Amino acid sequence: MVITLNLDEWYKHKHLSWKGGKLHFVGQDVTSLSKRYGTPLYVTSQDIIEQRYDELHAALRSQYDKIRIHYAVKANSNPAVLKILKDKDARADCVSIGEIQHCLKAGFEPSRILYTGNNQTHEQLKFAFEQGVNVNLDSISQVKTLASMLEEETRAKLPLISFRINPEIGAGHHEHCITAGRNVKFGILDEQVEEAYRKALDVGFSRFGIQTHIGSGILDVDAFKKAGSRYLEIVSSLHAKLGINFEFIDFGGGIGIPYKPSEDPLDLDKYAETMIGLFKEACETGGLGTPNFCVEPGRYIVGESTILVVQINTIKVTPYKQFAGVNAGFNTLVRPAMYGSYHHVITCTRDTGDGNNRKATYDIVGQICESGDILAKERELPILNEGDYLVLLDAGAYGFSMASEYNSNPLPAEVLIRGSDAALTRERQTFQDLLRHVKIPPWLK
Ligand code: LLP
Repeated sequence: MVITLNLDEWYKHKHLSWKGGKLHFVGQDVTSLSKRYGTPLYVTSQDIIEQRYDELHAALRSQYDKIRIHYAVKANSNPAVLKILKDKDARADCVSIGEIQHCLKAGFEPSRILYTGNNQTHEQLKFAFEQGVNVNLDSISQVKTLASMLEEETRAKLPLISFRINPEIGAGHHEHCITAGRNVKFGILDEQVEEAYRKALDVGFSRFGIQTHIGSGILDVDAFKKAGSRYLEIVSSLHAKLGINFEFIDFGGGIGIPYKPSEDPLDLDKYAETMIGLFKEACETGGLGTPNFCVEPGRYIVGESTILVVQINTIKVTPYKQFAGVNAGFNTLVRPAMYGSYHHVITCTRDTGDGNNRKATYDIVGQICESGDILAKERELPILNEGDYLVLLDAGAYGFSMASEYNSNPLPAEVLIRGSDAALTRERQTFQDLLRHVKIPPWLK
């Protein structure tokens, strides 16, 4: 079944509504939140995060009992978001020691964290092992690093180990977000997979998992299917050759969200049926037993949970263009500048019935001193005025987590809403924060 939404349904899917002409996000008045907390402001809905998690969990669970959802922390590592997902019984997918630290602080059991770093140092691997976090290795040479490290440790209680497989079939919304293929830095290719697991067996490991992640922002189930089939062939042949029984088979993240009104959400039931169908078939025919079926969604769970509110401070009209200049930029949300990504923009007020329905086309531009600092290009919007608030949708994944202090701008604030409650989850940085770790050499004092 293809899910097709018209514009009103699409807005409803995003939990947006207008009351008395004013925009509400999950029932809360966006203008009041902006006045209370200032802008630029990331506003995250707990209800949406929980709903997306529940939907995904239900879709997967309807196909198989042993499923694991590892939330990809990189998408949004705000401690409140982590706490919400931990309370939902999610596991975590981390790519750095910093992310592991955040998860441990949020109360995730180390054994429920999978550390898929790449190019880690000896110290980073050691830290993860010492914490009891599951380590997913990205290259054969890391087995050696690990072996040398474990010489000093007790080998008696070796934890589970897994490898990231590159099935050479990738997909994603942008070249930079396709993470499988011949020329991609990630994972272990088919011809080296056996050697990798054999080395791990030689070192003394006896508990194994296996993982892949083909890319990010994928709305087409067939792309997952194609790569998944190839991946399962590799898994089955590994089991046949080395007799390894995998405790989990991890299919990574990548489920996309509809950023554009013309896009429809991915059909989760179809995704679950297709992927778990392939998985079960491979388990049966290859004698793989009943391993856990794992996924690592980031964007799907948090992407639509958050809006970014900015305020217009300058309207500039040239003979060629109209610009709405706002108090944010690619320091606040880098996706449009970095990947050419589309974030839908809406105003905080809608036609109030006074007959002023005029529209114009604007580029929404930021404060960064680069011409590429365009948050949204050529958008038809109601006539904009200085002082108006604008809302960029779907900013919950790779929004704040990729924000920077470029041009010496403090990082924005984040607010969590639930029902009629709202609370700051991250204070807006101050200029003192920008100077906190700065040191002046004595000869310059
Ligand atoms: N697992 C691994 C190993 C990953 O590398 C990623 C994302 C995920 C899971 C989660 O993928 P998701 O479900 O969120 O698609 N900054 C880019 C996205 C980069 C994704 C990196 N890896 C963007 O803004 O689109």
